[in-house]
Amino acid sequence: MKKVEAVRGMSDILPEEALLWQHLEAEIREAVALYGYREIRTPIVERAELFARGVGEATDIVHKEMYVFPDKKGQMLALRPEATAPVVRAYIEHGLYAKGGVAKLYYIGPMFRYEKPQKGRKRQFHQYGVEALGSLDPALDAEVIDLAWFIMERLGLRREGLFLRLNSIGCPEDRPRYREALREYFLPYREKLCPDCQRRLDENPLRILDCKVPTCMEIAKDAPKSTDYLCEDCRLHFERLLGYLDALDLAYELDPKLVRGLDYYTRTVFELISRDLGAQDALLGGGRYDGLAEALGGPSIPGVGFAGGMERLILVLGKREVGDRCYRIITKPEVYLLPVGEGEVAEVLVDM
Ligand code: HAM
Repeated sequence: MKKVEAVRGMSDILPEEALLWQHLEAEIREAVALYGYREIRTPIVERAELFARGVGEATDIVHKEMYVFPDKKGQMLALRPEATAPVVRAYIEHGLYAKGGVAKLYYIGPMFRYEKPQKGRKRQFHQYGVEALGSLDPALDAEVIDLAWFIMERLGLRREGLFLRLNSIGCPEDRPRYREALREYFLPYREKLCPDCQRRLDENPLRILDCKVPTCMEIAKDAPKSTDYLCEDCRLHFERLLGYLDALDLAYELDPKLVRGLDYYTRTVFELISRDLGAQDALLGGGRYDGLAEALGGPSIPGVGFAGGMERLILVLGKREVGDRCYRIITKPEVYLLPVGEGEVAEVLVDM
């Protein structure tokens, strides 16, 4: 009889490898706790509408990659493709903003995207992520980026093997002007763009900057920069953030083409890139999302955060031997009890 196998793009994590996962998770949990983050666990299944409204209907993540299905009553549900929208939903639903101050929440868990599986890209993958809600201060953006570097350092990744790509895409008031400038720029190239980008040109030309098709990338090379379209407040925010990063001695590369594949971002966007990963080189990505809580029907509360892929971390770390070095995790029993005869079995079971 034909064997039943795992679903394409969804992997088992076998006991040996699971030790490495436990170790990395423990390090990440400790790192984020030191920055004041507390864990939040949200469901894997959410209403599909959450992501359509939160992440954006025109994004690849929602438009092409989301696992969507009706439940028995016909309600459209989705396997979560990311966790920022769910965390903000839970934050609003449980009134976590009522306490005031900044809520710092973190998560680790599986996400689902129907992408073409390849090295570092799975259909079920795992993210660790942080979300800080409740402050517009660019110092919080800087602290979140500092935490990303802190996690990398704790996991033993060399700074030289990584770099931070950084940009500001401004606020919703800046967006129409920038979108228009992009549309004007890309329009003469319409026929040369891939079919997806031709659609993007009408729906949201920002997404063209994200396209990985070589001809589109070539055309996008000289596209207008988002930083040339920032209002005074957004420009100041970005300037202060760069000042804080300099004070923290954190290097960055300004990338005016970085827009990220999710529509909720405002102002700061960033990715931490590994020089050793090849095509799927983003170890983590994030940014500010000041309009998301309101878009989900909550109060106007700003936020900033990032998420990274566990699988990609494991790829750059290589097959690192953890075993007994993994002091936080008990990997094998320390005492064995052996019954010497049938009569002792029950006794051994009780003493275990
Ligand atoms: P994202 O850039 O879509 O952002 O995903 C974050 C990270 O998840 C990526 O940098 C990558 O390491 C990993 N990742 C994404 N897709 C896959 C995949 N198919 N297979 C393996 N790893 C993958 C977000 O999801 C935002 N929610 C991040 C965020 C949090 N922004 C603000 N707060």
